[in-house]
Amino acid sequence: MIDPPQISGSLRNRLAVTLIGGASLLALLLFLVVRNYAAQIAQQGQDSILGASVSSILDAAVLRDDQVEIDFPYASFSMLTTPAHDRVFYAIYRDDQLLSGYADLPRPNSADSPDSGERHYQTAAFIGKPIRISTASRTLLGADVKTHITVSVAQTQDALSDRLNAISRNVASFGMGFFVLVVLLSFWVTSITIAPLNRLATSVARRGPQDLSPVSKPVPTEMLPLVGALNRLMARLNQSLTQSEDFIAEAAHRVRTPLATVRSYAETTLQRVDKEQNRQALRSMIRAIDESSRAAGQLLDHAMITFRADQLEYQQLDLVDLVQDLVLRLAPVAEMKDIDLQFHVDQPVHCQGDPILLQNAIRNLIDNALKYSPSESTIDIRVTAHPRPQVEIRDQGPGFPPDEISDLALRFSRGNNAAGTIGSGLGLTIAQDVAIAHGGKLTLSNLTGGGACVLFSL
Ligand SMILES: Nc1ncnc2c1ncn2[C@@H]1O[C@H](COP(=O)(O)OP(=O)(O)OP(=O)(O)O)[C@@H](O)[C@H]1O
Ligand SMILES: [Mg+2]
Repeated sequence: MIDPPQISGSLRNRLAVTLIGGASLLALLLFLVVRNYAAQIAQQGQDSILGASVSSILDAAVLRDDQVEIDFPYASFSMLTTPAHDRVFYAIYRDDQLLSGYADLPRPNSADSPDSGERHYQTAAFIGKPIRISTASRTLLGADVKTHITVSVAQTQDALSDRLNAISRNVASFGMGFFVLVVLLSFWVTSITIAPLNRLATSVARRGPQDLSPVSKPVPTEMLPLVGALNRLMARLNQSLTQSEDFIAEAAHRVRTPLATVRSYAETTLQRVDKEQNRQALRSMIRAIDESSRAAGQLLDHAMITFRADQLEYQQLDLVDLVQDLVLRLAPVAEMKDIDLQFHVDQPVHCQGDPILLQNAIRNLIDNALKYSPSESTIDIRVTAHPRPQVEIRDQGPGFPPDEISDLALRFSRGNNAAGTIGSGLGLTIAQDVAIAHGGKLTLSNLTGGGACVLFSL
């Protein structure tokens, strides 16, 4: 078991949080800026009307016989009418003495009291409400007097705040819409940003255990270092695997030849020796040589299969021909054990495959049936095209040991029924590896009436 790597956060969450956080900050900023700007513009609008009202009153002021007379133009106050029915207040001073209007209307303090002709604006509280006041002064010249008139016109701000609230609501819903859009966008952006990583992970995870080829699909620039490192790692792994397979093949080959020589010496010696004790020792020796030689042969085949499974040499072939050829070659072995090899076919079974690997796999399966079946029994070999090209081998032997059946295809695994037979526990491994390399599988089962059934499908 490999421990899962430790997790430090999630790229997707990090991206989404950054994007959504940025979007909410932007939406808030947008709201504040637009609202502030709208407030300024609305205030300017109110100010200019208030200013016009003050000017129209000032313009109407005349000095007659040292008395100030003002004939209020109608427009002075009517121009201040608002949909919210804002209240209007005014005050007129002559040289700081109230002439008319509200005595307690706030006045600009003397420091920033306006010069003649200049308008002054201020916001203050009056009758418990915020008001905006515009003030301007004018000097009136009479025959021998010079007097100073100051006019203040004020207005409550109900219409202004109504308008501002409406604008705020609109800007807020616009900001919300913008936010929701960015959230959706950020989910989309995170998923397309993460997608190449997911694709790489899936393509590596989907590989067969033998597939150590480099990742060749195009990847985004940022992933190049990762993919480069992965490819280099796989190349190193591949190289060391190939080296060890080569080593096994070479070693098996070197062992087999001298073993054959030793065996033939042992055989001839056995014919010459009479003493039973020595004959027994020689027989054990021959058996041990057979075991080693079989193991070396199977190891060699297994190494060859592991190597070829990476680069299958696919050919169009007829599975029936291939199996028939094997049956013919194994017929002498069957005859020696008085076993009847029955071959059943209805039609050619065309398929794509590597003939050397397929022969090797199926030979191992027939070999097992011959090895574990009693003499004077029958072995049925059936090649069919449906549902997939497959070979089924049934024998009348003891069948697979039921408690071990799931492990028998593992390397070097032999069943408890194998005691006394020569073998290395690699035959089923070879057959299974070949089936998997061809996209198929090997299925082991026992027949109800006794005997083993092996299904090798492509
Ligand atoms: N036809 C069969 N009937 C009963 N048992 C079988 C049969 N085929 C395989 N087995 C069991 O499965 C085990 C594994 O088979 P496998 O072919 O892998 O190894 P082996 O035959 O022991 O050695 P070798 O590598 O020389 O073939 C055998 O040891 C045997 O116990
Ligand atoms: Mg075998």
